[in-house]
Amino acid sequence: MYNIAHFQDLINKEIAEKQYPGNPIELYEPIRYIMALGGKRMRPALLLMACDLFEGSIMKALKPALAVEVFHNFTLMHDDIMDKAPLRRGSATVHEKWCDSIAILSGDVMLVEAYQLMMQVDDAILRNVLNIFSETATAVCEGQQTDMNFESLQDVSIRDYIEMIRLKTAVLLAGSMKIGALIGNASADDAEQIHRFGENLGLAFQLQDDILDVYGDPEKFGKQVGGDIIANKKTFLLIKALEQAEELDKEELAYWLKEENAEPEIKVNAVTEIYNRLGVRQLAEHQMNTFAEKALSALEKIPANMEKKKQLRAFAEQLLIREN
Ligand code: IPE
Ligand code: IPE
Ligand code: MG
Ligand code: MG
Ligand code: MG
Repeated sequence: MYNIAHFQDLINKEIAEKQYPGNPIELYEPIRYIMALGGKRMRPALLLMACDLFEGSIMKALKPALAVEVFHNFTLMHDDIMDKAPLRRGSATVHEKWCDSIAILSGDVMLVEAYQLMMQVDDAILRNVLNIFSETATAVCEGQQTDMNFESLQDVSIRDYIEMIRLKTAVLLAGSMKIGALIGNASADDAEQIHRFGENLGLAFQLQDDILDVYGDPEKFGKQVGGDIIANKKTFLLIKALEQAEELDKEELAYWLKEENAEPEIKVNAVTEIYNRLGVRQLAEHQMNTFAEKALSALEKIPANMEKKKQLRAFAEQLLIREN
């Protein structure tokens, strides 16, 4: 049996071996740059683990695994423009290091490359796989647009928020795992359970991402701490705070959401103080654990090797106590 690090090593080796054309340098250098910055390689690892769970061939799953990692990095490149983010994985974001136009076009090439990699599955499952991949990609765009729309909306509900993160984040984990399951020749029922596992893990994962955005250690997080507060992102924390705040806290929160010329550090500190007073971090952690439990119960329903299931469970748990 393989361990998790083995799957991540396989992906990192694929990434390191990938060659890009030299010209135009502005188009390809940002791709080499972002892919070399590292990251948890979680989506490709999950795809490989799903394939392995059904005793599928890891070799056959390698290019599709690389495809989802390239796709993910494309979404990050564009997400960082949209979120005006200065830092990614502890280094300058592509649009900061180069410019917006370069980040847009390099990202576009990455999306095309992701399709080319994904197309390398067996013909028998090609149409099915590309269909899942395309539906996933469209859902991510829908989620991302909704996330942007919410920045200027006040009355976003928890239900709206969960649907938004399902689209922008969870469907990619779910889709990656379903593709892994198809490569492993899983039954339709089992593929559906692995999809449910991935989706609920993705929801839990995004909640942890929102928590880290406020409470992460700047040394380890690799992104700008407080970025979501600065952009008025409707995270679980902010929505709960808006729901629960009374009197002065309510007034103060409304003030920061309206204040366009706020000094970022002062705003982040003030809003974090309100979150602390209201205890919204604990509420977010509780919600995250609820999704994690749903994910694990879907996994339990799959009749597969106990050790492999245990490994997936361990990986999921590790992702939810991460620091970056
Ligand atoms: C960041 O994803 C985007 C989200 C969906 C929160 P990851 O946290 O998986 O980023 P890397 O690839 O490990 O850097
Ligand atoms: C990102 O959500 C989701 C996608 C990239 C599709 P975030 O905007 O929260 O991700 P980070 O925090 O920048 O990684
Ligand atoms: Mg974003
Ligand atoms: Mg972002
Ligand atoms: Mg985030």
